[in-house]
Amino acid sequence: MEISNRNLYQLDKENYLPTFKRFPIAFIKGTGSRLWDADGKEYIDMLAGIAVNSVGHCHPTVVKAIQEQAAELIHVSNFFVSPTQVSLSKLLVDIAGLERVFLTNSGAESVEGAFKIARKYAHSHGRGGKIISMKNSFHGRTLATIATGQKKYQKGFGPMPSGFLQVPFNNLEAVKALISDKVAAIIVEPVQGEAGARVLDEGYLSAAYILCK
Ligand SMILES: Cc1ncc(COP(=O)(O)O)c(C=O)c1O
Repeated sequence: MEISNRNLYQLDKENYLPTFKRFPIAFIKGTGSRLWDADGKEYIDMLAGIAVNSVGHCHPTVVKAIQEQAAELIHVSNFFVSPTQVSLSKLLVDIAGLERVFLTNSGAESVEGAFKIARKYAHSHGRGGKIISMKNSFHGRTLATIATGQKKYQKGFGPMPSGFLQVPFNNLEAVKALISDKVAAIIVEPVQGEAGARVLDEGYLSAAYILCK
């Protein structure tokens, strides 16, 4: 098969589950801020994998670390200690000033993990497990994360997991009105993205933190 945007787009359409509406462009190479598609066209990448490739494409340090680790050991079960997991966890704990970290594979998985931690803590203190989220929020595409967000992502996937409440973004009074011993957590994006780059008022997060405490 000839490698081209058109051919790859067609094969993708035939074989990959259509969970995203994709552009008919297949990227095959990247360096720093530059990307090249399968037809050889060069781009300046202003998207960066939706703001996550923060050191650019194929940064030499990242490439070297992956190559070295892949040649050494790729996977062991969670039943055993991993030296790289140990050193990364220690680094993150030191930087963040937190007690412990948990490593995940995606944003949605991180949010799911946070919900489980919050509910486990709440239940062990005799409290309920409700979670307050914001209208027009986005926290991922797993079942619990779509339960926190917009109706359009829930369509066709019901019944939704229970215990999720919603209030308007940037309205602390609305959050306060729902706080009770049945609530385990509040989840809020400091800057909403899907709702159109909406920023929280200054002081909201520290007030919400005090409310949680
Ligand atoms: C605010 C926010 N939370 C969670 C997620 C989910 O992250 P992931 O796609 O890595 O599961 C996203 C993804 O765009 C996001 O924008």
